[in-house]
Order: sequence, then C-alpha cells, then structure tokens
Amino acid sequence: MVVSLEKHVCHDKKAKVPDQQLVFGRTFTDHMFVADYTAGVGWHDLRIQPYQPLTLDPSAIVFHYGQTVFEGLKAYKSPNGMVRLFRPNLNFERMNESCQRMSMPAIDPEAMLESLIELIKIEKDWIPTAPGTSLYIRPFMIATEGYLGVAPSQKYKFMIILSPVGSYYKEGIAPVKILVENQYVRAVAGGTGTAKTAGNYAASLKAQEKATEEGYSQVMWLDGVERKYIEEVGSMNIFFKIDGKVVTPALNGSILDGITRRSIIDMLRYWEVPVIERRISMEEIREAHRTGKLEEAWGTGTAAVISPIGEFKWQNELFYVNNGQAGELSSRLYDTLTGIQSGQLPDPFGWTI
Ligand code: COI
Repeated sequence: MVVSLEKHVCHDKKAKVPDQQLVFGRTFTDHMFVADYTAGVGWHDLRIQPYQPLTLDPSAIVFHYGQTVFEGLKAYKSPNGMVRLFRPNLNFERMNESCQRMSMPAIDPEAMLESLIELIKIEKDWIPTAPGTSLYIRPFMIATEGYLGVAPSQKYKFMIILSPVGSYYKEGIAPVKILVENQYVRAVAGGTGTAKTAGNYAASLKAQEKATEEGYSQVMWLDGVERKYIEEVGSMNIFFKIDGKVVTPALNGSILDGITRRSIIDMLRYWEVPVIERRISMEEIREAHRTGKLEEAWGTGTAAVISPIGEFKWQNELFYVNNGQAGELSSRLYDTLTGIQSGQLPDPFGWTI
C-alpha cells in the first residue's frame, strides 16, 4: 500500500514543550496518519496530513454505540540518535483481535507499521530524550457511518497520532496507593475486557473517582462474578512477588493481554525467576501480607511501564508492601525494560526495531 503525503506536510511547526515539563497525553506532534475504510472497497486513501480536528456526522456510530478500538506503544531515540519502536507488530496484531470482538474491519498490520514508520520519520524531532520521556503512539479506529440503527458501521477511519510524553503517573516510579474496588467491575468473561475498546475505560471512571476521593491513585479490579479474584489495576496488568515467586492473574477472558505483561513474564523467565500465571484471590494477598510473604506488587502497562504498589486498601484493611517502598525486583524490571526500550541497554530478546 502507498501512503500519500499531503502537500502541506511539515510547515508551521508547533512550539515544543521542554522535555522536563512533558506530562502524559497533552501535547501532539504536527502530523497524523489517516486511512479510510468503506465496506466492499476496503482500506483506501492512506495519508499523512497535518494534525487537525475531524469533521464527522453527528450520527456517526462511534458517538452512539462506541464502536472504536485503540492501541498504545512508544518510540524512543537511542543515545546514537536511532529511533526505536518496542514490539510494534504485537500492537497491530492485538488491534485486529480488538477489531474482531467489536465487529470492525481488520487492518493490514504490515502496511500500518510501514505507515507508522513513515509518520515517525517526519516527526522524529518530536521524540524527547530526557529520562522517563518517550513518544507515545496512539493508533485508533472509529466507526464513521452516520446511522442510528444498532449495527456494525460500513465506514471507518484508522488514525495514528503521536504525543511526546513524560511519566503517566505523577508519582513516576514511586509506589502508588491502590484501593481495591468491591462494587464496580471492569469487565466479565464474555464481555469486552480483552479488547482495547473505549467502553472499558469509560466504565472504569466511576470507581477511579471514588479512589481519588479517598486519596488513592488507582483502583484494583476484582472479578465480576464473586469479587474475590484479582484482575487488573487501573489500566494495567498486575504482578505480585510472594515468598520469592512472581504470580500474575492468568488471562481468563476478561483480562487484557498486555504487551508489557508478556515482556515482563519473558524477562523474569530469562532471569530464571519463577513466574506463575494463575488465579489470585484477595484472601491470598491478605494471608501473604499477614505472614510477611507479600514482598512486592507492581502494575505493568505501556504508559507507565512498571508502577510499583506501596499500599492496598481492601474493605477496611490496609496492606503495606515493602514498607511502601519500590521493591528490588520491580525497580530492576523498570530499569531493564526502559533501558532496552530506549537503547541504553542491549536487547537480548530482539524486541526493538
Ligand atoms: C497502557 O498503559 O497500556 C494503557 O492502556 C494506558 C492508557 C489507557 C493511557
């Protein structure tokens, strides 16, 4: 497929925010990638154009029935000036799985990766280099057909926008406080929890508001049936180190198959640290805490990479982890993964391109 560059690419550049002042998701680069889909025709008009607002029919299906999916990945500039992407093929493959769940058309992962590379070549000066910063890449697809009937759209837009970012949490790598949510749930097996679709994130906001009111950074989600088993934390997967072994909830049909989650499991196995994917109950965490075996806990996601957890509140009990400090293993994972991603450390896994 051929990506066309609109004639006016690369003129009036936006003023850049200094690297040290970057926050997450507030600054966008000068250009975006756009492709259109029409049923019976397929994907067409692949183009890179100036970053700009969209004009959509108010009856577009995305506004009414939420037919939309997204991905998140990052680009870094390594010390020798090379641009690196971290496992981008996995994001485009996962997007197709999300599309399948949401009755949306598949993309061609290779063509979209080529288009992303073209976009990044144009925007490479936007990649920040200060520690903890990166260029966050947001591919997404929306249903654009104007129709109020509940049915899959016949028209879509796929877009990629780029955002130079700092840390996702204001705490950075400092441990966060987590409120275990007993009322609201994020997803249930058979629902859309494994798809990266907007509704999952909209449904999480109410519990997040409650957590913020109580002075907690994030919510820990329990299963939707018994409110007994741990699923995710905020918009991240979760890991615990209990008595020398790492455990993480097994993918059960409602948990997102995180790319950082997979990378952390592979890295731990490479280091010969035992890691088990299985069901983990809150009772087990309480018991591990009581017996002094709850050594570490951390969330994993593209945006935050690793976010150590220093405290959990479950019902009226408080569990401190590692005296509220970042643990040795989570710090090592953060340093190694961000080192590989940014090109500061060698990549024995072949994850960066
Ligand atoms: C991630 O970190 O993987 C996310 O999906 C976070 C994003 C919703 C900001």
